[in-house]
Amino acid sequence: MMLLGVGMIFLMACQATPPVAPSPTLSPPSVPTLTPTLTATPDPRYPWLFGRGGHLLANSLTDKCLYRRGIRSIYPKESGGLRDVNPGGLWLGTSVGAYALLGVHDYSRAAAREYNLLATENALKFAIVHPYPERYNFCEMDTIMAFARVNQMAVRGVPLVWEQQLPEWVFELSMPQEAWQLLLQDHITQLVTRYAGRMDEWDVINEPLTEEGTFKETIWYQNVGPEYIELALRWAHAANPQAKLFINEFATENLNPKSDALYALAQDLLARGVPLHGIGFQMHLLEFNPPDPAQVAENFRRFNALGLEVAITEMDVRIWKPATPEKLEHEAEIYRNMLEACLAANCDTFIVWGVSDANTWIQYFYPDYEMPLLLDEDYQPKAAYWALWDVLQP
Ligand code: XIL
Repeated sequence: MMLLGVGMIFLMACQATPPVAPSPTLSPPSVPTLTPTLTATPDPRYPWLFGRGGHLLANSLTDKCLYRRGIRSIYPKESGGLRDVNPGGLWLGTSVGAYALLGVHDYSRAAAREYNLLATENALKFAIVHPYPERYNFCEMDTIMAFARVNQMAVRGVPLVWEQQLPEWVFELSMPQEAWQLLLQDHITQLVTRYAGRMDEWDVINEPLTEEGTFKETIWYQNVGPEYIELALRWAHAANPQAKLFINEFATENLNPKSDALYALAQDLLARGVPLHGIGFQMHLLEFNPPDPAQVAENFRRFNALGLEVAITEMDVRIWKPATPEKLEHEAEIYRNMLEACLAANCDTFIVWGVSDANTWIQYFYPDYEMPLLLDEDYQPKAAYWALWDVLQP
């Protein structure tokens, strides 16, 4: 359904806004020959995992990927956006999808103008990047990488291990724990190795905890084992020792049982020498129930005191319909407070979960809410945008 919808937007946008010739000052992105270093060796004891040449097919879909070539015809970046009012060099990110980057002119234009970092909204979700046991599909991902390159943006890899957006075949597997470990190790190694040097920050673990602060008994927890968090971090580190590795969570911005559990988890991992460098706070917030800035500051301080970075990784502030001028002002204040808390904790990354109110997961997941982002449905700056502008300017 969503793909169809996006496809239609793509077609409509193509008709409505013919592409403009790229600026002569920007050379088209190079399309490198990608040869992944394969560090996980297929194990003959588990033929069902690596059947028919397994890993070696990993690149074959990329070769047929036509999308990223379209990036060459995308408008060059304009200046004067939020990313340019940023003397501190904060990574100001947005999540993006490749279809919209290619097909919706206002979307790609705003993404490149306002942000200097892209987060992979869905391109690295297991079902998309690893759709068959023996096949990876880097098509959407490489399109995003090409867009980032043309527009001088960084890319942050999210997420490596999550219980959602998994392909059916993962649920159909019936195999010993060792084979599950090989499967997850291979998945992590393929992705992290492939983008090493171009994408060196990862949310390795996404959403491991319940509201009560216990571990979610996900498919990974049950089959790889309760040690899957530690193993995943170690495998990611082995695949790219330069990479900064994060655990990413939601509803952990205040002091509460879940953030206490996250703190205890981080403390335990660090005490045992597990490579963990930061904590991502998603911040999918509600306008009528914002976090308490004092608690957020205190919370960030305790993670900093462990030697960890903090980052705001998926911020949006959903407003119960209808959005009024008062609610939009309140939303702006919440954005301001969270950016200030982030900067006070020396964070270097602040990401919003979508380019504009016209392209947000809130439309589908929380239809009673609206206007969660910095730009409105017409890609015009909202009060929230100007609040961040104020905080960022010297
Ligand atoms: C969401 C995407 O925005 C949607 O397009 C997709 O259908 C579902 O996932 N927490 C996360 C993100 O870690 O990966 C989720 O992204 C939003 C909640």
